[in-house]
Amino acid sequence: MARRIIKYRFLTKIVISKTQNNFYYPEDFRLLVNLKEFLSTLPQSVIKGEEILLPDHLIRKIFSFGGLNEHDIFYDLGCGINNTVAIASKEFNVKRSIGIEIKRSRCFEARKKIVDLKNAKIINKDIRKTDLSEATVLFFWFTDSKMIQQMVRKFDKELKNNARIITLWSPLNMMLPSQIEFPFFVCKKPFSYAKNIRDQIQVIYGNSCIDFTASWLLAEKYIDTLEVVPGQYRRFVNILQSMIIWINAWNMGIACEEVIPPPVESYIGILKTFFDIDLSNNILKNPPSNTHNSII
Ligand SMILES: C[S@@+](CC[C@H](N)C(=O)[O-])C[C@H]1O[C@@H](n2cnc3c(N)ncnc32)[C@H](O)[C@@H]1O
Repeated sequence: MARRIIKYRFLTKIVISKTQNNFYYPEDFRLLVNLKEFLSTLPQSVIKGEEILLPDHLIRKIFSFGGLNEHDIFYDLGCGINNTVAIASKEFNVKRSIGIEIKRSRCFEARKKIVDLKNAKIINKDIRKTDLSEATVLFFWFTDSKMIQQMVRKFDKELKNNARIITLWSPLNMMLPSQIEFPFFVCKKPFSYAKNIRDQIQVIYGNSCIDFTASWLLAEKYIDTLEVVPGQYRRFVNILQSMIIWINAWNMGIACEEVIPPPVESYIGILKTFFDIDLSNNILKNPPSNTHNSII
């Protein structure tokens, strides 16, 4: 099961990463070849990589959701050049606002945004080697599963009780979030864990299986909330992302449908015919048994 969960996370997050203008994906991923071709047709701004600039109003939304307040010590893990550290300090009045960023050039840029702020700091360091013990609220938005595993161990070891971790798209590993407003999640220490993926999905999405409509709506909500996909690619990314979510659910035996539903067949056909993206090989012929019949 563990391996399947990791695969599930990769599958959902690969496309998400792409929508975030970022490319952390496993090199052995079968879709890569076609996706790479597709990506090569997009402008550099879409495919550039890690320079993800979250819009300020989204940052405010995330922080309101996470309940940042004057008692908090806030850490943005991998802050890049976002305004997170400044907004947490100025608008949410946290005690201390710390951004950790591995790239020196980004730290340099990020520091320009906090010059007048006494309680804010950008540290040029690897988050895996940074002491996080004082943090009461952390923003952690990584898709690389190795990084997630490493950091979860660190969170377990270093964070104090009641520390909150805000993530986007999914909670960390099999954690059960203490707050959900999809695609935002808060997991609070001491962390609680789901017994299996079905239980986790039940808690997060209100059902223990995912059907085509749910896949579509999840992709749509994510794209709409994050607002990082340029308008002209929005529809396309929605189709692609929802297909990957559904295929993934199917392969794990947690799709609601007993057979491949017509809209999935149609979209897979469209992606193949018009975009040369063939997802059909990724659909397992014999997915793990699916014994439920609930519908989201
Ligand atoms: C927030 S992260 C991740 C964004 C994206 N959602 C993802 O899944 O990769 C992006 C920023 O983290 C920085 N970063 C990457 N690895 C890091 C590390 N080990 N320590 C500190 N910063 C890191 C990058 O330089 C970049 O500015």
